[in-house]
Amino acid sequence: MDWPGGKGLRPWTVFLLRLLGKVAVVTGGATGIGESIVRLFHTHGAKVCIADVQDDLGKKLCDSLGDPENVYFVHCDVTVETDVLDAVNSTVSKFGTLDIMVNNAGISGAPCPDIRNVDMSEFDKVFNINVKGVFHGMKHAAHFLIPKKSGSIISIASVSSSLGGIGPHAYTGSKHAVWGITKNVAAELGNYGIRVNCVSPYAVATSLAVAYLPEDERTEDAMAGFRSFVGKNANLQGVELTVDDVANAVLFLASDDSKYISGENLMVDGGFTRTTHSLRVFR
Ligand SMILES: NC(=O)c1ccc[n+]([C@@H]2O[C@H](COP(=O)([O-])OP(=O)(O)OC[C@H]3O[C@@H](n4cnc5c(N)ncnc54)[C@H](O)[C@@H]3O)[C@@H](O)[C@H]2O)c1
Repeated sequence: MDWPGGKGLRPWTVFLLRLLGKVAVVTGGATGIGESIVRLFHTHGAKVCIADVQDDLGKKLCDSLGDPENVYFVHCDVTVETDVLDAVNSTVSKFGTLDIMVNNAGISGAPCPDIRNVDMSEFDKVFNINVKGVFHGMKHAAHFLIPKKSGSIISIASVSSSLGGIGPHAYTGSKHAVWGITKNVAAELGNYGIRVNCVSPYAVATSLAVAYLPEDERTEDAMAGFRSFVGKNANLQGVELTVDDVANAVLFLASDDSKYISGENLMVDGGFTRTTHSLRVFR
């Protein structure tokens, strides 16, 4: 018999499946952190909709999971409200309900170290995806979660939701906004027992993050150069942050293990935003 969460699982394994029977939408789920969330949710027995603009990668991920009954892809540009509405509606049509909304899609925007040269169309683009896109997800998930009086909404913010100086202006502003909206929506949806949180990672080696690397830190192998640069500047030494660590934090907030946690910004940063080594007291 095939058990939920994958083929060939033993019956006792079902007790370890932390999202068994739950239905989730993951925006930006085709690659990077989103892909890891999709894979982990699927492993834990969830039915998952991957909502992304990268159709080829999204479909490839579905194929690689080999479970079309429980994972599917929908083209969705989070800046287009009707796309998000369609992603949520089609998920409910296919799987019968919605329990978890993960607003993960995001961009960093072009680096620009001089405010006088900031391209305002780029600024709008970052806010449209990172803020409006997240709010679209919250709004349309709420439509289904309010009548059920349960559910979990998780948005991926960043260490830039709490600190200045580690990303472009629009990116930092957008991630502060994600955290602000999270608290406000948690206040409203708490009336219905719905939890609303965000997860804020330090730098993880994905295509988004590599673009951040300062010119003088770039090496031939972009990922290796990135890992070395962020490793040196991390608080936690000798431990590398991966997409799977972020996905594990999202799994926690999606599952009943966090049933009384709402309005929280879970930092997955190894203490980066709580410490500074700039005065070299410990280094
Ligand atoms: N990688 C990091 O270091 C890091 C650190 C902190 C926070 N984050 C946040 O994590 C999230 C995921 O980032 P990542 O590093 O995995 O980046 P990534 O570039 O690897 O993946 C982002 C995904 O979002 C999708 N996407 C972009 N625009 C979209 C749109 N308009 N509609 C739908 N999908 C869209 C992309 O197609 C891609 O699949 C982002 O919100 C990012 O800000 C990343």
